[in-house]
Amino acid sequence: MSPRSPVILGTGSYAPERILGNAELARTVDTSDEWIRTRSGIRERRIAAPGEGCSDMGVQAGRRALADARVAAADIDLLIVATITPDMPMPAVACIIQHKLGLPTASACFDLNAACSGFIYALDTACAMLASGRYHRALVIGAEKLSSIVDWKDRATCVLFGDGAGAIVLGPSPDPTGGPVRRGLLGTRLGTYGASADLLCIPAGGSSLPPSAKTLAAGGHFMKMKGREIFKTAVRAMEEAARDILEQHGVGTNQIALVIPHQANSRIIEAIAQYLELPMDRFFINLDRFGNTSAASIPIALDEARRAGRIKTGDISLLVAFGAGLTYGSALVRW
Ligand code: ACO
Repeated sequence: MSPRSPVILGTGSYAPERILGNAELARTVDTSDEWIRTRSGIRERRIAAPGEGCSDMGVQAGRRALADARVAAADIDLLIVATITPDMPMPAVACIIQHKLGLPTASACFDLNAACSGFIYALDTACAMLASGRYHRALVIGAEKLSSIVDWKDRATCVLFGDGAGAIVLGPSPDPTGGPVRRGLLGTRLGTYGASADLLCIPAGGSSLPPSAKTLAAGGHFMKMKGREIFKTAVRAMEEAARDILEQHGVGTNQIALVIPHQANSRIIEAIAQYLELPMDRFFINLDRFGNTSAASIPIALDEARRAGRIKTGDISLLVAFGAGLTYGSALVRW
């Protein structure tokens, strides 16, 4: 194994205290617990406290991952935050998190926007930067406050999303020999269907439609989604990403100990399970408790799966996601 091949040294996650259940949501918008559960699998989601920002949640998850990895903040020289809900459009929330966590000033810190695929994109980016030898230990965070971009009057979207953060620490294997088999990120398969960018977007607030009284009145700063079209593209993209990565690395589905999919909709996950001919118990699912937390969904699930004893040393996990863009991607990780 190359001494430069990084491994996951620790994981952490954070969920805001406030739980918003389906029944409570149905009191403010025309929906029902039954509709939400049967169409998406979601029972409840977490909502950040007023004044609690993306950075606050990212810091909590990052601190827990550092403690789990037994790595000091001072030893991190790369921070990537995958998010579509930074504290503010500028600067990157990574800069705010760097300061709050006390990471060295001599560290590269930036945000990465690939929506719900953001964590897999950030994992790939961090591993490539570490493998270059120019960086040594990375903190990769997925943090989202989706409650701040959801239109709480739009029942087609507001029932699906939640807030939270997850993180991992990447660095050289503690085993100086590297061990008998290659560990860490075995590979990724990333992709983008840019032609479908309009299926899921926040139309206003960027450079093409800057904020104005008109965009505000039109609700242009909220997330807009064509749910049914997204559903179909998501299944196709995730199947493609899963199939390609397994083929590229000669890994059979029987070698996958656990699939950690993006937690958007249990019906999408069931379609992937059917395609891969894997039983549902080989998939880690927590969307019933968190809803879709975009870039935070996979790192929260990774942390929960590890702490629940569902990931053991030597296991191979398949991560697979899709998101606005439409971006999609898969990753194979050996622990
Ligand atoms: N409660 C009750 N009824 C509803 C609700 C609701 N919350 N939302 C929509 N409906 C109604 C619709 O108005 C429609 O009524 P109609 O038949 O009278 O027109 C009916 O339910 C069916 O609506 P569909 O949109 O066709 O329902 P569908 O079965 O496709 O499920 C869903 C909708 C859950 C959104 C599904 O399409 C989905 O999960 N799509 C993927 C969305 C997703 O994962 N987005 C995240 C992308 S990741 C990222 O980057 C953030």
